[in-house]
Amino acid sequence: MSSNAPQPQPGILEISPYVPGESEVPGGLKPIKLSSNETPLGPSPRAIAAYKSAADSLDRYPDGAATALRAAIARQYGLNPDRIVCGCGSDELINLLAHAYVGPGDEAIYSQHGFLMYKIATLSSGGTPVPIDEKDYRADVDAILARVTPKTKLVFLANPNNPTGTYIPHGEVRRLHAGLPSSTLLVLDAAYCEYVRRNDYEAGLELVATTSNTVMTRTFSKIYGLAALRLGWAYCPAAVADVLNRVRGPFNVSAPSIAAGVAALEDKAHVEKAVAHNDRWLPWVAAEVEKLGIGVTPSIGNFLLMHFPPAKGKDAASADEHLKARGIILRRVAAYGLPNCLRMTIGTEPDNRAVVAALAEFMGRK
Ligand SMILES: Cc1ncc(COP(=O)(O)O)c(C=O)c1O
Repeated sequence: MSSNAPQPQPGILEISPYVPGESEVPGGLKPIKLSSNETPLGPSPRAIAAYKSAADSLDRYPDGAATALRAAIARQYGLNPDRIVCGCGSDELINLLAHAYVGPGDEAIYSQHGFLMYKIATLSSGGTPVPIDEKDYRADVDAILARVTPKTKLVFLANPNNPTGTYIPHGEVRRLHAGLPSSTLLVLDAAYCEYVRRNDYEAGLELVATTSNTVMTRTFSKIYGLAALRLGWAYCPAAVADVLNRVRGPFNVSAPSIAAGVAALEDKAHVEKAVAHNDRWLPWVAAEVEKLGIGVTPSIGNFLLMHFPPAKGKDAASADEHLKARGIILRRVAAYGLPNCLRMTIGTEPDNRAVVAALAEFMGRK
């Protein structure tokens, strides 16, 4: 490149672009796609109907404040709608938070195997990403707090985390928050919280309500089955909501997305069905896979991290190849520092059974 060529800001060329879950397999087979933590049940029929009816007004700009959606979210969770900011997926909100609060010389902390977007968002804001070692694939609160300095502007915590599926209890999240200076913003990414069935878990609403430096992000991409629409939201202290509203695009959420999101929230039975499906199949897949001699990290999300034996021909890359040849796509997670693991999203019953059968064959148990 000539030295006169336009140059991006420092940090940008250090970014390894996010690689989405694959969706095609060789040979034109119809794939069993379990690579992006999408729901096997699809969206609520009510959300699809609302999306279609929005097709009649595509000539109009959307309501830039997403008023109806913020009101629906506020009603559902008993929140102040003025402190909700909607985004083009929670990815956008993560990016906007980094953009607004991190600059050159600043640091953002996240856990070692934390969601990849934290690193990307931090680098793209010119900041320095600081990954912190985990303990047993779980965020380590003491290690995070030990690394906080006046430069730490953000601490990102995916709870539950993707791709490990682990979580830290609310008491630990509170302890993390209590150890942070008031100038550091704690971002609780609760993309999978609807799946969680643990008494000691809290998505973050309470901390956001009672502190001035906690934000919680949520998504419609997972349990609501609306990944294609790109819809997420953040619950924020008033001052942070004000900041996000200044930096976001004025029409960052489309009208069909707003309509579908409102309808999806109203269909509580659909969400309950998805939770029940996950409760049935997550433990089944975990147990069956373990029986085959493949390790699993206990998960409370809608996905499972599998650890393959290191032996040549039995490792994660070989397993991935074996599964793909049978039309099954899981997620390689080497980019998360987990080169010998695959992440599987819990699918339909036939899909789950197909994965277990293919893995049994791979491990020579069939
Ligand atoms: C932990 C976590 N946060 C955020 C996201 C982004 O979701 P969205 O589709 O809302 O951008 C994902 C998606 O995989 C995720 O796993």
